[in-house]
Amino acid sequence: MSESRWRVPLSDITVDDELAGAVLETVRSGWWSMGPRVTEFEREFAEFCGGRHAVAVANGTAALHLALLAVGCGPGDEVVVPSLNFVAAANAIVHTGAEPVFCDVVGPDDLNLDPTDVEAAVGPRTKAIVVLHYAGFPCAMDAIAELAERHGLAVVEDAAHAPGASLGGRMCGTLGRAGCFSFFSNKNLPVGEGGMIVTDDDELAARLRLLRSHGMTTLTWDRHRGHASSYDVVLPGFNYRLDEVRATVGLVQLRRLPEENAARARIAARYREALDGQHGLTMPFGRGGDDRVSSHHLAVVLLPEGADRAAVRAALDAQGIQTSVHYPPIHTFTQYRSAARRELPRTDAVAERLLTPPLYGHMSHEQIEAVIEALLTAVEAEK
Ligand SMILES: Cc1ncc(COP(=O)(O)O)c(C=O)c1O
Repeated sequence: MSESRWRVPLSDITVDDELAGAVLETVRSGWWSMGPRVTEFEREFAEFCGGRHAVAVANGTAALHLALLAVGCGPGDEVVVPSLNFVAAANAIVHTGAEPVFCDVVGPDDLNLDPTDVEAAVGPRTKAIVVLHYAGFPCAMDAIAELAERHGLAVVEDAAHAPGASLGGRMCGTLGRAGCFSFFSNKNLPVGEGGMIVTDDDELAARLRLLRSHGMTTLTWDRHRGHASSYDVVLPGFNYRLDEVRATVGLVQLRRLPEENAARARIAARYREALDGQHGLTMPFGRGGDDRVSSHHLAVVLLPEGADRAAVRAALDAQGIQTSVHYPPIHTFTQYRSAARRELPRTDAVAERLLTPPLYGHMSHEQIEAVIEALLTAVEAEK
């Protein structure tokens, strides 16, 4: 367990000799910037997802930015995105020159975007839809894909919560034109900073590789190996590359991901058994379709209507239990208030009730039960 002031932190990483040894070996190799370990991480990640290509990038936000650019988003375009999401997708849309158009969630039992509201948000300038698999639960991709096809729109998946989640046997991140993953420290596959874009589209993958590294046609690694001595620049790209040290961490974490997700599923099930329906508290995504496998990134609960969330959080904090809110809806932020042209009644209705308790695969039995007890006590005190 990492150093922490919390008895139960919101998320936690495992640091062991295997991980440290792998990192040391890469450091000692003397090649630190993008090279063979990044290529290996891409190969294994693509294989894990069942996608043709995986393109490693510096973080999940860079993944979204490049994916949106690569599918052609730019000035004058609109991109539909759920407001109940991390702000990265909205910022990435703005950085392509396009405008975000926020859509609503299905409701308190399903915090994923609502295909009917997505359709209502689509207009003549819509270029793409960014879907989120909220908390690791696959969204209604069949309906989204059908309407995207009908309107000629690209679907980009924000799969930051969803490595290893699947729908009908197909992995999240392979369900749209491009799937964007984050390897931030609190994710199921934590690297510190890192990201990946998965796509089956050869041309898109080639464009993503160019955009990731200044639009240059060869890499420093190619030139170091003598495979190239010069380069051309064919696009105004970025430096969004991943490095060898982080790819090494990523490779170790990827091999641990199935076990991590399984442990999270067990803990989430225990939370659901103990918390759902108690004192007016509910856990969304209870009525899962049989073909939907969650990666259980977050175990979000909805507090009873009218409960004082700050008081509940303070009660848990006093016991050393860290909580969070996923998310303050994007349309409520100063930056995005003027872009909030649509009513989002179901997002607004759940926004004040959201609470995220700790969840990570190596939580101890005592930690899990401490969270449950503290949460039930705090919610009961609110009645
Ligand atoms: C849903 C979602 N999208 C995008 C991101 C951005 O990823 P990153 O922090 O790696 O840039 C995150 C996480 O931080 C996220 O939770």
